[in-house]
Amino acid sequence: MESIPVILDMDTGIDDALAILYALSSKKLRALGITTCFGNGDIENTTRNTLAIVELGLSSVPVYQGASHPLVSPWESTAEAFHGPNGLGGTRIFHPTQKAEPLSALDFLRKSIEDHAHDIVLVATARLTNIASLLLAHTELTSLIKRIVVMGGAAFVPGNVTPVAEANIWGDPEAAWVVFHSGVPITMVGLDVTMQVPISDGMLSSLVPQVPYFDVIREAVDFYLSAYNPGEPRGNRTAPLHDPLAVAVAEDDSLCKTQALPVDIELSGRFTRGMTVVDRRERTTAAPNVDVAVTVDRERFLKQFAQRLQFQQSG
Ligand code: BDR
Ligand code: CA
Repeated sequence: MESIPVILDMDTGIDDALAILYALSSKKLRALGITTCFGNGDIENTTRNTLAIVELGLSSVPVYQGASHPLVSPWESTAEAFHGPNGLGGTRIFHPTQKAEPLSALDFLRKSIEDHAHDIVLVATARLTNIASLLLAHTELTSLIKRIVVMGGAAFVPGNVTPVAEANIWGDPEAAWVVFHSGVPITMVGLDVTMQVPISDGMLSSLVPQVPYFDVIREAVDFYLSAYNPGEPRGNRTAPLHDPLAVAVAEDDSLCKTQALPVDIELSGRFTRGMTVVDRRERTTAAPNVDVAVTVDRERFLKQFAQRLQFQQSG
């Protein structure tokens, strides 16, 4: 089986952590490295969390620290309610033995794209700040990237930070604008599909205790389930597996049906900044720039997710 060289660009985060473990257990994806971005915590937290999860996944995939704030606007932290004060639900994280590489995220991205020209896939589960900065500085790279799978946006469903904006786009709309207008093929794995694939109490309680990430994932996901279901007792809680689905689609795009559509990013609306504006008009003259995931094979993804991370059941 031919492997796909990928770079994961992440703001680790609870669902990013699950996405890393999913990617590391893939036979098809070859993770060249993980670049980090602010988002679910500040950049020190998200980088430390990434290193810790890589270590718990028994991997030595290199980690490169990236952006600490958006391209234009100041950073506003909004993720604490869902990801806790340290980005991993307040879970006590050991000090990872591995450190972030001395090379910057942007230099690593540039070099890897050149080395794996036309084959490399970027999976972005954070603000698009790193990728936008790269493409602004090196426009020549746009034709060398096979595709970018973006966890972000909401095409036909409401947003999750504002009524219309999803967190990764809302957190740096200018960066999203640059990437969506770059000409690189984009697959948008947005809330339309990620809200359809939940982790549940049932699944969490079936995590095999022997896995090295057992304690951290159990505690962090318990926090995540509470955050999505305030006041609900343990038992029937569910919460979306946003970022793991994006990694899964990078590996196997038959998991989602997509529609090629023109998508723009709202930069200035008082109520709509950060919205992914989809042109659905039948007779539009706008050219499609994004493959928008519109449906997902929920059962197949959840089964695969459970097997990969060693949940014994997908209930
Ligand atoms: C996205 O926002 C982040 O908080 C999650 O990790 C995910 O990437 C969902 O809107
Ligand atoms: Ca994320």
